[in-house]
Amino acid sequence: MIKRGELYYPTEEFKKNAWVSDPKIYKEAAKDPVKFWEKLAKDLFWFKLWKKGFIHKPPNFQWFAGGKINITANIFEKDWVVKKDKIALIWEPESLNEKSKVFTYQELFKEVCKCANHLKGLGVKKGDRVGIYLPMIPEVVIAMLACARIGAVHSVVFSAFSPNALKVRLQDTGAKVLITADSYYRRGQLINLFKNVEESIKGTKVKKLIVVERSNKAPWHKEDDFCKAVFMDSEDLQFILYTSGSTGKPKGCMHACGGYSVQAYWTGRYIFDFHEDDVFWCTSDPGWITGHTYTIYSPLMNGIATLMFEGVPDFPTPDRWAQIIEKYGVTVFYTAPTAIRMFEKYGEDIIKKYQFKKLRLLGTVGEPIDESAWLWYYKNVGKEKCPIVDTWWQTETGGILLTSLPGLGPFKPAFTGLPFPGVKTEIRDGQNGKHGNLVILPPFAPSLLRGIYHNPEKYLETYWSQYGKKVYFTSDGAIMDEHGLIRVIGRVDDVIKVAGHRISTGEMEAAVNDHPEISECAVVGIPDKIKGEVPVTFVIYKGARPVEEIKREVIAQIQKGIGPIALPKEIYLVEDLPKTRSGKIMRRILRKLFTGEELGDLSTLANPESVDKIKKLIYG
Ligand code: WTA
Repeated sequence: MIKRGELYYPTEEFKKNAWVSDPKIYKEAAKDPVKFWEKLAKDLFWFKLWKKGFIHKPPNFQWFAGGKINITANIFEKDWVVKKDKIALIWEPESLNEKSKVFTYQELFKEVCKCANHLKGLGVKKGDRVGIYLPMIPEVVIAMLACARIGAVHSVVFSAFSPNALKVRLQDTGAKVLITADSYYRRGQLINLFKNVEESIKGTKVKKLIVVERSNKAPWHKEDDFCKAVFMDSEDLQFILYTSGSTGKPKGCMHACGGYSVQAYWTGRYIFDFHEDDVFWCTSDPGWITGHTYTIYSPLMNGIATLMFEGVPDFPTPDRWAQIIEKYGVTVFYTAPTAIRMFEKYGEDIIKKYQFKKLRLLGTVGEPIDESAWLWYYKNVGKEKCPIVDTWWQTETGGILLTSLPGLGPFKPAFTGLPFPGVKTEIRDGQNGKHGNLVILPPFAPSLLRGIYHNPEKYLETYWSQYGKKVYFTSDGAIMDEHGLIRVIGRVDDVIKVAGHRISTGEMEAAVNDHPEISECAVVGIPDKIKGEVPVTFVIYKGARPVEEIKREVIAQIQKGIGPIALPKEIYLVEDLPKTRSGKIMRRILRKLFTGEELGDLSTLANPESVDKIKKLIYG
């Protein structure tokens, strides 16, 4: 029987073949983390080795300075003879009537080179930013790797983001080339992606568009199929990926070539325990960091097969995901708690017929997993034999920083576990270091972001101010149990995780406030049984138009500013929002109206009566 609060360990069989099964690694790494990472880094293919492992000039730092590397040379050239005929990428289309596509390393390499040559032909050079707005089709992998091959900096924008969201990101990167597609399938419907694009590129520097036709040959199919890898400095930009922060504007997280490559490679090997015959399925869209690192870079650097599925896990039937695991013999499966809770809701009967014989390891990411979902996952998907790695990390960290290692454990439902060897964390401001804010101490991790694009002030303010310039502030709250295992509870800022997607309530408010008749609004995240959290919106509206009409317009504002992932569960039109005497909206109180927590002392508010009115509106 499996229970809450208990510790679990890997089976002897799992341990036997695991890359890490001796806890000594933690001690060794802690003794000299820089030396530890340098030892790991040597396993990669460098054109030239680095001079110094870690250089710290707070808040800035460098890893493997002076080294020359190319991440694609670590995917293709490294161990080429062993890899070339192995499967690199499996693509499963959404429609059951369409054929899947499989690429060996050699086939993928040719595609990447063709695309790289195409980009070169358009004048793209090392250091140039290239926008990528592609759905989950093989070309997204090819395009990203092609950029990396020639040292161009990709900036991928999630394909469900709105034209406006795309525009803002393109403007910030100053990309001159955008790679996009005509369409893709979602829940049986052909979605026209290109119609978003024309609108988005107005007012940006984009001069050239590369448009992939989903059902046709790639635009680069006639190019030469060899392209040399450009030598990248370890600290050169690998890519920029935008993420949401507390304030309105998304932040362009800058990742460096050397450190990112090392972290992507080794976290895959140690945490997902990649072995040569593995088939890895990370369900994340490449538009998010999880897709960057674990759908693409990490498994490919490790020479295994990575699976990408165009659609959603429960379409056309609730067991589509289970069918895919069986069809391809997936061995390691990595998804978000929201997906697990969705499978759980559909009921055990649906998956009873699946044995998942090949599955040997499970992972979760993106939001806190509750004990019940953890136990369900362990029992029904892992059949009580697969370890679960609950991996904590962020767009900013580039790769996983916290999790129990699969060959060691212990695994405790709802706890992510220990910091990865060579990573030092602390919990600050709480009782006895057991409950408070999660921070990361020097030497951080090779893949931690090097900056926010064009915005060093924001970089300093967001990550290196709360506890000084030498301590990275994660913006997450965490607790530690008596075994030193860490549980990440959630964000302490205005970021919410909706179905694992990172959304800024500030960004949503900015979108709503753009409405000419809305003077003020507040967005808060409230608990949701499936999605973890969902946004609700409070809008001050004093006009006379019908409520439903205004609500529809609020939805349109968010749709336009961000996209469908940020749509609120509920919109309340109110006369007033609870505020402090200095005029700050008390979002915490609004949130508590839904969680049932004590509201606390309201007498310090400038307008305590507003709370009762809102309560009536919600509960009648
Ligand atoms: C949350 C996703 C609890 C956390 C890789 C973090 C988690 C934010 C976990 C980053 C986890 C991620 N347990 N919370 N295992 N993993 N988070 O940038 O709040 O999309 O700060 O990166 O997700 O989200 P992001």
